[in-house]
Amino acid sequence: MASKRDKLIRLLSKNGEQYISGQELSEQLDISRTAIWKHINELKKDGYEFDSAPKKGYRLTRIPESYNESTIKWGLSTEWLGNVLYFKESIDSTQNMAHDLAKKHAPHGTVVIANEQTLGRGRLERPFESNKGGIWMSVILRPQMAPHQAAQITLFTSVVIAEVLSTLTGLPLKVKWPNDLYINDKKVCGILTEMNGELDSINYLIIGIGININQNENQFSSNLREKATSINIASNLTWNRAEIVQDILTALEKNYEQYMDTGFHTYKQKWASMAYKMNEMITIQTPQKTYSAKLIGIDDNGALLIEHGNETVPLYSGEIIW
Ligand code: BTN
Repeated sequence: MASKRDKLIRLLSKNGEQYISGQELSEQLDISRTAIWKHINELKKDGYEFDSAPKKGYRLTRIPESYNESTIKWGLSTEWLGNVLYFKESIDSTQNMAHDLAKKHAPHGTVVIANEQTLGRGRLERPFESNKGGIWMSVILRPQMAPHQAAQITLFTSVVIAEVLSTLTGLPLKVKWPNDLYINDKKVCGILTEMNGELDSINYLIIGIGININQNENQFSSNLREKATSINIASNLTWNRAEIVQDILTALEKNYEQYMDTGFHTYKQKWASMAYKMNEMITIQTPQKTYSAKLIGIDDNGALLIEHGNETVPLYSGEIIW
């Protein structure tokens, strides 16, 4: 049976733009006006917003985003990606849980999502800030491919996510080698592909995807604030994460099938068309040195292609620092 709180939300949302008086709410719910007022205050703490006016009463102006297993699964129309889906309110890292599940034979396409990670990790074991408000998700894949092709998967994933986010938001998403998405010179998404396998075969891959969605600047630590952005900061809008997850899973499933059928070529071209600083001079840092070169694309192995002196050189590891 619906609680008084749920009935109150339903009554107010049914009334839309119209105010409804405290007296009428109290009669309809059969509770005192003080109890209504207490419920309204509790709802405000949970992110509901109201207008209230003397003699008119209340109207609901904002319902908080609902992000949980049901809202993600409801309306998810993929065939295999996310058929097995775990949602955690808080977790150390969705990568850890995905590895445990994969070792226990979780099927291809299993997805782990969390509202918050306490020990989110990025490339090179760097900490990855993952407060409430973003999408933190790990996908287990069992592709039949050679281990050296795994680098393509990170680039393929970044292209698919950049396409989904730019279609949805109209924002200028860029892909930055090897594993980031940028908006206006700031990082909005990181991808971490981890592999378990033998020399010549992959047992499983975990693709970790972290996207800043609804955080405002104050939710980033001070050192991240100047380097990172969120979809909310860039668009000035609050987004429904469950719907974004559904769009991403749908696009990943469709494109993964295409990639397995026809290969990396299409994604390599798309990557180049969305590349951050394409045909510009960039600064590259490797453990040995820091130097400048022109970014001209990626190769079939997922290496970055740079023009250095008169030569085109593939870069397999390193960092674009500027
Ligand atoms: C990076 O920027 O270096 C990669 C970041 C990857 C973050 C995602 S969030 C979901 C998954 N869980 C983690 O701990 N990391 C990945």
